Amino acid sequence: MVDHDGALSSRLDTSVPHPARRYNYWLGGKDNFAVDRASADQIAAAWPSAPIAARENRRFLGRATRFLAGEVGIRQFLDIGTGLPTADNTHEIAQAIAPESRVVYVDNDPMVMVHARALLTSTPQGRTSYIEADLREPGEILHHPDLLATLDLSRPVGLMLVAVLHFLPGAGAAAPVVAELVDALPSGSYLAVTNATKDFLPAPIAAVYDKMLAAGQTDIWPRDRAEFAALFEGLDLVPPGIVPVSDWRTDDEPRPRPGASDVSMYGAVARIP
Ligand SMILES: C[S@@+](CC[C@H](N)C(=O)[O-])C[C@H]1O[C@@H](n2cnc3c(N)ncnc32)[C@H](O)[C@@H]1O
Repeated sequence: MVDHDGALSSRLDTSVPHPARRYNYWLGGKDNFAVDRASADQIAAAWPSAPIAARENRRFLGRATRFLAGEVGIRQFLDIGTGLPTADNTHEIAQAIAPESRVVYVDNDPMVMVHARALLTSTPQGRTSYIEADLREPGEILHHPDLLATLDLSRPVGLMLVAVLHFLPGAGAAAPVVAELVDALPSGSYLAVTNATKDFLPAPIAAVYDKMLAAGQTDIWPRDRAEFAALFEGLDLVPPGIVPVSDWRTDDEPRPRPGASDVSMYGAVARIP
């Protein structure tokens, strides 16, 4: 469902920073505007390792996808909070392992829609689709005709919620959304999640970050370990469980690994029983 770019441009607000474009800037991409770069620099002034966190989060997405496609045999993925296409998009990783893999991407940023063609380069054996929708309305995503035409919800799905739940602000705000999505998936499906955290930050940096949150200077809502763990209630965590994203199944990653405070992002993968 690729729209006309003309209609899209009227919905692109380049005066307000947007997470997808800010993340793109931290990853070294070019699909961002001055307002996104200013916001990214402001956050990085308080938390200088934000670009490291972005890179490590993206690497977690790659390793989690490889684990699900390669070791578990998952052939269908629902990737919500897709981000702007960059190297190693979910379908590229999954289809390199199993060309028949099917991936539904979901994002609420019209800019991602502009780039959606880059997400629709499926292998002939597999399939990808892109839905512009909001994570806060899981029912709309789950019943979307493009999702139903791409995924068979009676078979296991890898639900990827990577660096997106922290855009649902408020203590306890993420759990009901995750629960609604998980409830719609059959046994043998998997959930992969990352979320920013202040747990590893030195107290003075955490205090500055709190002030930025209160002043509306950042929209990244951190969650502590207990709230992150609650997202997996009733699910079977895959070893090593809940760890900084930079420490999740990193046998093939170069050493030394970044420190937990540099990354400040929890990651985990769990099986839905
Ligand atoms: C930091 S990027 C993460 C991209 C990718 N998942 C990754 O980890 O590399 C977050 C993405 O979530 C999207 N997003 C934020 N809030 C959302 C919402 N409520 N519904 C859908 N997408 C959302 C943003 O537009 C952005 O593309």
